[in-house]
Amino acid sequence: QGDVFTFDPGFTSTASCESTITFIDGDKGELLYRGYPIDQLASQSNYIEVCYLLLYGELPDKAQYDEFSYRITRHTMVHEQMHNFFRGFRRDAHPMATMVGVVGAMSAFYHDSTDVTDEWQREVAAIRMIAKMPTIAAMAYKYSIGQPFVYPRNDLDYASNFLNMCFSVPAEPYKIEPALARAMDRIFTLHADHEQNASTSTVRLAGSSGANPFACIAAGIACLWGPAHGGANQAALEMLRTIGTVDKIPEYVARAKDKNDPFRLMGFGHRVYKNFDPRAKVMKESADEVLDLLGIHNNETLKVAKELERIALEDEYFIEKKLYPNVDFYSGIILEAMGFPTAMFTPIFALSRTVGWIAQWKEMIGDKNQKIGRPRQLYVGEAARDYVDIAKR
Ligand code: SDX
Repeated sequence: QGDVFTFDPGFTSTASCESTITFIDGDKGELLYRGYPIDQLASQSNYIEVCYLLLYGELPDKAQYDEFSYRITRHTMVHEQMHNFFRGFRRDAHPMATMVGVVGAMSAFYHDSTDVTDEWQREVAAIRMIAKMPTIAAMAYKYSIGQPFVYPRNDLDYASNFLNMCFSVPAEPYKIEPALARAMDRIFTLHADHEQNASTSTVRLAGSSGANPFACIAAGIACLWGPAHGGANQAALEMLRTIGTVDKIPEYVARAKDKNDPFRLMGFGHRVYKNFDPRAKVMKESADEVLDLLGIHNNETLKVAKELERIALEDEYFIEKKLYPNVDFYSGIILEAMGFPTAMFTPIFALSRTVGWIAQWKEMIGDKNQKIGRPRQLYVGEAARDYVDIAKR
């Protein structure tokens, strides 16, 4: 009675909000951050500049860029007491589990940036989140491999700082390869925002109640972890390793088409893109560049990935279902070549997406007309009925 609802399993047809941040045309395979095409930003900009663009709507001039970069750099350390949180986890905890816990704990630390009604506190929460996420991700990694935490350095750019916090050890200095840092930075940019995906919608819904911003980001991390979402980058590389060689591809493609087989091609398909994911194109080019830079030739996993893509794109099932490689298909090949274990792939997606989450949260919470989110349902359960005493059941 009253409102009439239609059931849409993926909330695809009903817009959940208005936003000015990111535009996707799934049929054309187009992705714009504040109107700028992702391939131009990936090749000509850098992640800090993209963070400024996503947060404030325009590309910064030199003075604005330097001031923003200075503010981010000087918030990269975490409160020393937060180190204790890591020690409560088992060493073999997945870094995503650690990140959910530690970022959630930030809501108990930074009290001067949790009053969501105060514009300045909202701004500080955004700066802190973007600045500290690489430090937290690197600490989760170091903890999982039993190595000491490495502090951020103010003399390094964002991507170089992250690589240094992950790979340097007290015993010897870590040599930062600028081209590798640029490739890392490009990966951050490609994952920065993506309209109302599941984890961003989670952050918006959690934030719509006025909840602590750090707790809302922790909710986004939890959602991203799923293999249907950000967890697909880890699952895709593990899938490519399982396939192993090019001659095994037809067997797995057949399984992916079999409705009775739970096997899915990880890193393939997308709820919105019914054409090539523009990020996957850039990622594929970057994979060739990084492997070449690292002197890794004849990488079997990349060979399997490219052949799998070729076969799938010629297969009538994938053509009919409009399934193409997505952002997660090639990213793991690059990250593995850089030296990251598969368990660090989704934490890197999470640190990249932090700016998108917090920019969308700021857009939502800063709107004076915003209301608490309250999705409805199509009730298909029992009609009203009277209680029956247990003796009569
Ligand atoms: C991300 O939303 C975002 O923007 C997410 C993201 C972001 O930046 O935030 O882009 C990041 O999450 C990318 C997606 C990563 N996930 C994976 O790569 C996991 C493998 N992909 C599938 O699980 C799937 O494609 C989803 C979950 C991504 C989308 O699933 P949907 O919404 O069911 O896709 P669809 O409705 O377009 O599927 C159409 C058909 C379905 O079959 P029918 O119900 O029509 O019979 O294609 C089938 C699907 O079952 N299908 C696949 C498939 N993906 C979809 N069949 C085999 N292999 C696949 N990978």
